[in-house]
Amino acid sequence: MKNQTYHINAPVTRTIAQVSDLHNKDGQPVLASLRQHSPDIIVISGDLVMGRKTREEKIIMEEEKNILPFLYGCVQIAPTYLSLGNHEGSLCDEDMDILASTGVTVLDNRWIERDGLLIGGLTSAIATNFGQFRKKNNTENPINEKNLKPYQSSRSHSMRLFPDSTWLDTFEHQPGYKILLSHHPEYWCIQEPMLINRHIDLVLSGHAHGGQIRFCGHGLFAPGQGCLPKYTSGIHEGPYGRMIISRGLANTAKMIPRLFNPRELIYIELG
Ligand SMILES: [Fe+2]
Repeated sequence: MKNQTYHINAPVTRTIAQVSDLHNKDGQPVLASLRQHSPDIIVISGDLVMGRKTREEKIIMEEEKNILPFLYGCVQIAPTYLSLGNHEGSLCDEDMDILASTGVTVLDNRWIERDGLLIGGLTSAIATNFGQFRKKNNTENPINEKNLKPYQSSRSHSMRLFPDSTWLDTFEHQPGYKILLSHHPEYWCIQEPMLINRHIDLVLSGHAHGGQIRFCGHGLFAPGQGCLPKYTSGIHEGPYGRMIISRGLANTAKMIPRLFNPRELIYIELG
């Protein structure tokens, strides 16, 4: 695992640790780094869980044993904020209650303000859509094929799903330095809501896993972007703010190995 640090000019002074795409991996090495760096804030930009593969009548929080020890470890280090990625679509209401009981603040299409810093969480369109699907079908847990339907849809279908971004109209006009956790980097300027056009100082994304295989500074593939994706890593400047993309802390792609692409824990020094 590689630690990557970015220094960003900002009217507030904070050290922020960005955890992304842990996917129920052992979080202890991440916690060791966090304890060493002692950030002011920890943000988790989605895909904390693996989620969707369960076939037993267990909730995800019972099945995925690495999640809760990791979150309890995080909140002992710093206030921790979680935004929901596509894999969090598997979480039922009971899972969400257990997540919140750890002391982590879940930002499900909302924001909080702390001492001049606003932190928002834009939930993945897939998670939002799947949650609505489950409510419509009156089922809490994705334990059968029917309930997994939105996850088994094609990439083109996923591209037609939209996140609930209406609240960003208010968020972007709030006073203070604005950070938005947005799991999908394609929301920056490939797919609605085109965050590049909003007055958001810093967007923090993940999801692309660095493009799985990296050559000459470029990734090979990313979900939502396809082959030779543009947004898989690093810092990207827009007219009103910038986006940092984490390469993530796990590998979930079955068919494509992760090569020349170390797992990444990001530290952002604001000030
Ligand atoms: Fe993802």
